[in-house]
Amino acid sequence: MKIVCVILAAGLGKRMNSAVPKVLHRICGVPMLQSVINTARKLKPEKIVVVAGKHIDMLKKTVAADDVLFVRQKKAKGTAHALASARQALKNFRNVIIVMNGDSPLVTDDTIRRFLKLHLRGRNSVSVISFTAVDPSSYGRIVRSDSGKVLSIVEEKDADRMQKNIHEVNSGVYAINHDALCLLDDIKMNSAKGEYYLTDIVALSSKKGLKTAAFCIGSDDEFMGVNTREELSRASQLMKKNIINKWIGKGVSFLDPQTVFVHYDVHIGRDTTIYPNVFLEGNTKIGRGTTIYPNVRVKDGFIGSNVVIKDSSVIEGSTIKDRASIGPFAHIRPGSEIGNEARIGNFVELKKAVIGRMSKASHLSYLGDAKIGERVNIGAGTITCNYDGERKHSTIIDNGVFVGSDSQLIAPLRIGKGAYIGAGSTITKDVPPSALALSRVVQKNIMDWAKKRSGMKNKMSKSRNKK
Ligand code: UD1
Ligand code: MG
Repeated sequence: MKIVCVILAAGLGKRMNSAVPKVLHRICGVPMLQSVINTARKLKPEKIVVVAGKHIDMLKKTVAADDVLFVRQKKAKGTAHALASARQALKNFRNVIIVMNGDSPLVTDDTIRRFLKLHLRGRNSVSVISFTAVDPSSYGRIVRSDSGKVLSIVEEKDADRMQKNIHEVNSGVYAINHDALCLLDDIKMNSAKGEYYLTDIVALSSKKGLKTAAFCIGSDDEFMGVNTREELSRASQLMKKNIINKWIGKGVSFLDPQTVFVHYDVHIGRDTTIYPNVFLEGNTKIGRGTTIYPNVRVKDGFIGSNVVIKDSSVIEGSTIKDRASIGPFAHIRPGSEIGNEARIGNFVELKKAVIGRMSKASHLSYLGDAKIGERVNIGAGTITCNYDGERKHSTIIDNGVFVGSDSQLIAPLRIGKGAYIGAGSTITKDVPPSALALSRVVQKNIMDWAKKRSGMKNKMSKSRNKK
């Protein structure tokens, strides 16, 4: 069956109290509208139409794709007016239109597919998914006759006391046959809000004797609409739980899943263990058998297998290869690549640094714009001085180099294969392979200096006491 999905996303979202359009607020790293588009895409529709309002350019910039057509609703005059704005785009289409709200990011394609089957089997003109809400106050109530026939949908503001007690509510997902779209012309403006409500299509269709139904197949969690910040955080919690349960099912261990955040696009390999308070964000991929200790944040990171990321480390836009060890308290900034079995220890900051296989920077270092070979030892407190106040320069350290502690490497610089840098050196010139580079003052020992000093002190205090 050919369908078209129309996603309503032009509302003002006033209840969010935000400069960001409501449907672009993110849930588990993905703008709500993107989640709805992803769901629509899985239904393989002929077209996906997004109805956007004054923020159309922002929406396009964030979620534009070849299979998404944007139409403009000039003024936010309600959900029926929004669908009417898409009519031109639906002109030549002769089948079922699935309408979805851009603020319901948890809806699944499975439920909509089931709904579409019911709509087609019933040969309905208009159908809607309903669900039972514990607190129905932010949804339209489904009003049925004594025999159970759907009569109308009534919004909270227009509901009488009896209707307010109804817990069966409108999900905002509709199936409308193309020939029932003309009902939109008969929808009157709702006087309480000055808007045209799409919900009224149900009463109009039912009154005209067209087959109309509400299928109560939704759940409170799946169909929650996000209108406020409080609902945004509840939706985030729900999606996060779904994501973590998916990875648990695929063999990932979470010591305390409630405290872990995993974005929608993250991938985690089998037998990986995640400790509490870990954030896995963006396009992060983690291999198998890796351990991530508490308070770690990884954003757009490619982490290999059997890696250990110790407590309180941050990894952004970088690759960590198999069996490497990071942290505790390491900061791996974008553009870095840590080779197999390499070790980056406490208070080490990397930026655009490539660290070769089995190399080590175990303590208190800054390595920026650096290319470091294999089996290199970077001593504690080493700094690549990559910035001259105007430009960045790179440091190249070849295989097998030993950099002594507390060295400053003033870039641009190359340290040849197997060279040694004496601790405490400031290196300003290239070092040839196998050389020892030293730049510190030669040590001078003054014999018996300490004894003489204490003798002096005793003399001085005696003469002070006499006075
Ligand atoms: C709407 C339904 C309500 C349903 C609930 C489900 C109406 C009148 N009410 O209420 O019955 O239970 O969704 O979550 O339809 N929009 C536009 N243009 C507009 C106004 C809204 O495109 O002029 C879009 C919004 O961006 C949003 C969607 O339509 O994505 C729903 O609008 P919203 O204002 O959130 O309606 P609700 O009050 O949640
Ligand atoms: Mg809403």
